[in-house]
Amino acid sequence: MWINVAQLDELNEVRPLRIQVKDEFMVLFRSGDHVYCMRDVCSHMEYPLSDGVYHSKQRTITCAYHGAKFDVESGRALSMPAVSSVPTYPVRIIDNEVQIDYEE
Ligand code: FES
Repeated sequence: MWINVAQLDELNEVRPLRIQVKDEFMVLFRSGDHVYCMRDVCSHMEYPLSDGVYHSKQRTITCAYHGAKFDVESGRALSMPAVSSVPTYPVRIIDNEVQIDYEE
């Protein structure tokens, strides 16, 4: 089910946006006109990825706690100490509305 989670113009290419859907925290990343959504939980020790360093051109987030890097499009772990992916959610943009495909 597609749900509205943000306005596109709330997002910039520097700071990820932490959002809450039900009891789950997620993070939105903007790269140009594309937006990506991951669970806001590092797969290493569950630190919030939204506190990390985002590189919009490379579409990567580096965890602020121990430096693991993730691809924000696929959720794949790109460097140690993380070895597993972080779940991602499909995103679409309708007019200025950012929506994610979310199933409870
Ligand atoms: S909690 Fe993210 S790298 Fe350790």
